[in-house]
Amino acid sequence: MTSSNVYLNGSFLPLSQAQISVMDRGFLFGDSIYEVIPAYSGRLFRLPHHLQRLNNSLQAIRMQNPMSDSEWTSMLEQLVAQQPGQDQSVYLQVTRGPAEQRDHTIPEKTKATVFAMSSPMHDPDPTVVGISAITLDDIRWRLCNIKATTLLANVLLKQEAKDAAAVESILIRDGNAMEGAASNLFIVLAGELITPPKSNYLLPGITRDLILELAEKNGLPHAERDITEPQLRSADEVWLTSSTKEIMPVTRLDQHPVGNGKPGPVYQQMSALYSEYKERIKQGLEQ
Ligand SMILES: Cc1ncc(COP(=O)(O)O)c(C=O)c1O
Repeated sequence: MTSSNVYLNGSFLPLSQAQISVMDRGFLFGDSIYEVIPAYSGRLFRLPHHLQRLNNSLQAIRMQNPMSDSEWTSMLEQLVAQQPGQDQSVYLQVTRGPAEQRDHTIPEKTKATVFAMSSPMHDPDPTVVGISAITLDDIRWRLCNIKATTLLANVLLKQEAKDAAAVESILIRDGNAMEGAASNLFIVLAGELITPPKSNYLLPGITRDLILELAEKNGLPHAERDITEPQLRSADEVWLTSSTKEIMPVTRLDQHPVGNGKPGPVYQQMSALYSEYKERIKQGLEQ
């Protein structure tokens, strides 16, 4: 952690001084949502998309957004400006706030708790030539489209991957591969880039949308379609994507090589397009 200040309920202060009540519903119930936003050269990456998803998550849990988009933007820009010249990952969380009593039902009057912190982020290691993943039963709930902090299932699924010396778990629900425990899923099959369609069984990833946009712009065959478990296992390429990890080529799945066991040609192409896009963001040529 850095020595920079974090943001809590209207103030910037050192992390060691940022405190919330034990009666906070975020603490007691996981009654809370979050976002993770990269910032490259001080520029918040795809901020309008993150703010829209934040709004969607709040609406889904019946909360008013405690801040306007311009207030969010100004606060997040101030936070990022504390570490100039450093690529960063900004974490923000909104909870339903502290209540007088512990009661599951939503109290009429609570004041949201708003927290944000920024950590240094480094480019993915160029010497890493693919990651290992395992498949697991998707034990999560049916509201995976909400970016909720209630992540116990994801914690256990990710730990199972670590126990198996893998980086990520790919989650299977009703015979279909949905996404990773903390990432979205793409496969390349017969020359087509495929990702599962948005639904309440997966998080609408900002990186996922950008990859589809880049595929569309650059004429790469692509589709939003269910991915069956046999299709996942016979794919030429498998990728997992997220804001902080960008595009991770999966080269081993359940101990077996994916394709020829190396990051594939479509990954190489998309990775280059993604880097170019990031470069344009850094130079302020793209929002
Ligand atoms: C379950 C899950 N799916 C997908 C993603 C990727 O989303 P994004 O690209 O917006 O980071 C994440 C990110 O943390 C996640 O937790």
